[in-house]
Amino acid sequence: MSGIYDHDDFFARYMQMDRSKGLHFAGEWKQLEKLLPDLEDACILDLGCGIGWHASYFAKNGASSITAIDQSEKMLKQARKLHSHPKITYVQADLCAIQEDKPFDLVFANLCLHYINDLLPLFEHIYKLLKQDGIFLFNIEHPVFTAGDQTWINEPPVWKVDNYFSEGKRETVFLDTKVEKYHHTLTTILNGLLKTGFTLEAVEEVVPSLELLDKEVYKLEMKRPMMLLVRARKAEKRA
Ligand SMILES: C[S@@+](CC[C@H](N)C(=O)[O-])C[C@H]1O[C@@H](n2cnc3c(N)ncnc32)[C@H](O)[C@@H]1O
Repeated sequence: MSGIYDHDDFFARYMQMDRSKGLHFAGEWKQLEKLLPDLEDACILDLGCGIGWHASYFAKNGASSITAIDQSEKMLKQARKLHSHPKITYVQADLCAIQEDKPFDLVFANLCLHYINDLLPLFEHIYKLLKQDGIFLFNIEHPVFTAGDQTWINEPPVWKVDNYFSEGKRETVFLDTKVEKYHHTLTTILNGLLKTGFTLEAVEEVVPSLELLDKEVYKLEMKRPMMLLVRARKAEKRA
């Protein structure tokens, strides 16, 4: 089991990114933090946990246990080095094949679901893993961002949205490396949650922050959304 995050060069470049230095360096964090439920005594599943910044935040803010899953050996090694905590259990696993059977108050997934081809079975599985009233909070690359080949064209730059309704694999370049991701339409994501039985509590596009970006990058990032935040609740028993 592996993935691009276990390739030496990619991993080294990822570790150089600002977001690897802490939650406050990640453009989405300010918005995402506000969407978190009460963490006191919460039992949390962190999917695609990376180097453990969120797991560590949950542990320090009242959660009773955090199961943090990632498929990458290198990311988990770094997570254990930087963010070991008695309340956190790191597990190397594919998030599509989660074996956990204890019920969770929160299933959290930051920037890993666009690596998944078929979201609906995963939504079903997450629904079953949640306690009644539990929260599924995730951040996925925005469909406007993932639809085309993920490049700017022309001068001044314009973002290319193409093949929007052809869902599935996209080969893109991220950190100078060819990376496979999957494009899902907004309908697939939001209707998928509704069909699964979730109710939607928040849908937000991440707004670029001037504090984190220099003016030129900020102007560019204001041209299209890059990330979509969704908070869904397992609110009622399904028939
Ligand atoms: C962009 S990183 C985000 C890490 C972390 N959630 C964060 O926000 O800092 C994406 C992570 O998802 C993990 N990942 C991707 N596909 C996965 C899969 N099928 N199963 C488990 N982890 C996966 C990668 O190994 C990587 O650590």
